Amino acid sequence: MNNNIKTALEVETIENLEALYDRAFMIVKEAVEAGSKNFGLATGGTMLPLYDRIRNSKLDFTKCQSVNLDEYVGLSKTHPESYIAFMKQQLFHEKPFKKSNLPDGEAIDPSAEAARYEELLKQLTLDFQLLGVGENGHIGFNEPGTSFDSGTHIVKLSDSTRLANARFFPSLDEVPTEAITMGIASIMRAKQILLIAVGEKKRMALEALLKDEVTESIPVTILKNHPNVIVLTDLAI
Ligand code: F6R
Repeated sequence: MNNNIKTALEVETIENLEALYDRAFMIVKEAVEAGSKNFGLATGGTMLPLYDRIRNSKLDFTKCQSVNLDEYVGLSKTHPESYIAFMKQQLFHEKPFKKSNLPDGEAIDPSAEAARYEELLKQLTLDFQLLGVGENGHIGFNEPGTSFDSGTHIVKLSDSTRLANARFFPSLDEVPTEAITMGIASIMRAKQILLIAVGEKKRMALEALLKDEVTESIPVTILKNHPNVIVLTDLAI
């Protein structure tokens, strides 16, 4: 089934996940072909089938820059769950960009690193931003309650986010407690956004996006105020 729900956002409901990720790949391909140069990238389980399709495609990013949403604070770059390691393994090894930017989670002064990253994001307009969404509605690591005016900043990860990410670590204790994340204002400057929300666990966040008013207590709802967002989901809301 492929319904287009009528809202200000462009929402495409595609129950078959293979078809959903084929569509996500097409949207990225169209952005590359339309001349997008600066790509905001995300990590997390949601992105794996998309990065798989990109790795196995002929898409060429060697004239493009990537800018990732976030990185854990205090995790070594060589730790397999650091976002730099994830990106190398899932994408960059096979699809190199001219330059790939991630926050440096090992920076001695994380606040200065967040300021450096925000400056970079002000210099370089993101043509395209890929987003997943947390069960609690977070985008990037902007947890509920984050100001919509926020730029790149250090965030203390909520218990629910650490629990959700514990599946990637040997134990909950090893999940970092802080991250550096692009802020909501940084994300909203992207010209085009593709949000992918798959699986029942994302229902609350997606329902809030489609039905609730825009509220800082559910960060993803801010996307209603963006002029160019496509939402791909397998959930009928
Ligand atoms: C990842 C990120 C997060 C994830 C979200 C969903 O860079 O910024 O917002 O998109 O936590 O994670 P998954 O896809 O693992 O459900």
